[in-house]
Amino acid sequence: MKIGVPKEILDQECRVALTPAGVYALVNQNHDVYIEHNAGLESSISNDDYLSAGAKILKTPEDIFDVSDLILKVKQPLENECKLLKPSQILFTFLHLAADKALAISLCKSRSTCIAYETIELSDGALPLLIPMSEIAGRMSVQIGAHHLEKYYGGKGVLLGGVPGVEPASVVIIGGGTVGINAAKMAIGLGAKVYILDNNLKRLRELDDYFHGRLQTVYSTQHKLTELVLKADLVITAVLVTGAKAPKLITKEIMSKMKLGSVIVDVAIDQGGCIEGSRPTKHSEPIIKIANANVYAVPNIPGAVPITSTSALTNATLPYVLKLANNGYSAIYDDPTLAKGINIHAGGVVHKVVASALDMEFSELKV
Ligand SMILES: NC(=O)c1ccc[n+]([C@@H]2O[C@H](COP(=O)([O-])OP(=O)(O)OC[C@H]3O[C@@H](n4cnc5c(N)ncnc54)[C@H](O)[C@@H]3O)[C@@H](O)[C@H]2O)c1
Repeated sequence: MKIGVPKEILDQECRVALTPAGVYALVNQNHDVYIEHNAGLESSISNDDYLSAGAKILKTPEDIFDVSDLILKVKQPLENECKLLKPSQILFTFLHLAADKALAISLCKSRSTCIAYETIELSDGALPLLIPMSEIAGRMSVQIGAHHLEKYYGGKGVLLGGVPGVEPASVVIIGGGTVGINAAKMAIGLGAKVYILDNNLKRLRELDDYFHGRLQTVYSTQHKLTELVLKADLVITAVLVTGAKAPKLITKEIMSKMKLGSVIVDVAIDQGGCIEGSRPTKHSEPIIKIANANVYAVPNIPGAVPITSTSALTNATLPYVLKLANNGYSAIYDDPTLAKGINIHAGGVVHKVVASALDMEFSELKV
């Protein structure tokens, strides 16, 4: 099969969809891999690194889309990329369609098969391709929060860990999955007082056992959430219902009662976000002020640490890329996990939860 990797064009997205190790594995199984010129530079991967692993370098995105059967990306395609997609092609990338109806419509028009990393789902409900990016985003959310709590970055001027004799900051994490547990590890490591909320009691029990009393687990109700958010210095939103839009858990009214300069890192912004009035921001201008809170709402947080996240992403995607390369679309017949990743096929939305979040017609996928 011919596999193409274009350079990412989203603002300050520095990741690339495949490492030289991934190229080597594909070429070893007799596939042709095409990488756009300089696609890996921001991840410290040169054209020569790719050439040595067996890839061919093509000049433009048009060249890549023209030649490839399978297109690997990191983030959702922008409008000019959607126009290059053909019905015979498979696009494999993060899509987060629940929050982007215009993109869903463009992808339907292309009639290509679009497989979303974030809805590839194992039988136990785990999301193996979201996990590494959630690990990174969770860990980064605390360093981002610490930075924006500093006075000169518009924050209230609190040190997360405090010092002997002065109390630490209060960090409230909403959602105790992969983002949540990784944020908690970092916040505890920095000495903050940490609360983690989830509406799944089983998960709260696991977290309680795991952290041995070093954080407070809280069953998430709107009442308890409001009480803790009002006292928090840093809030991290980390909830997910697979494929669906994130629930708006923090209203403008709550934010108007928060302490001035409090920081909210809305990690769930890629699924629409948990903050009333929030919208996706960019690494170059990450904060929007809503009432008393400074809300950080960058939907591609791992893009800021591309050397770590490009490798972590290929480690997770490569087994599925190899299945698609070896078997094409029919790989989904053998692998229900991969089948769950298909969001768009033959002009329709074929993922039930995504279709319902978008209020679009659901087309049954014949597997
Ligand atoms: N901004 C970024 O760059 C970035 C990067 C990675 C992940 N994310 C996003 O972060 C979010 C969390 O991802 P994850 O991998 O940790 O998901 P996950 O499935 O591992 O965890 C989600 C947790 O949220 C809990 N939950 C669901 N609804 C809730 C509610 N109403 N109140 C409290 N808890 C609730 C679930 O029980 C679960 O434990 C997702 O939206 C994901 O897309 C964003």
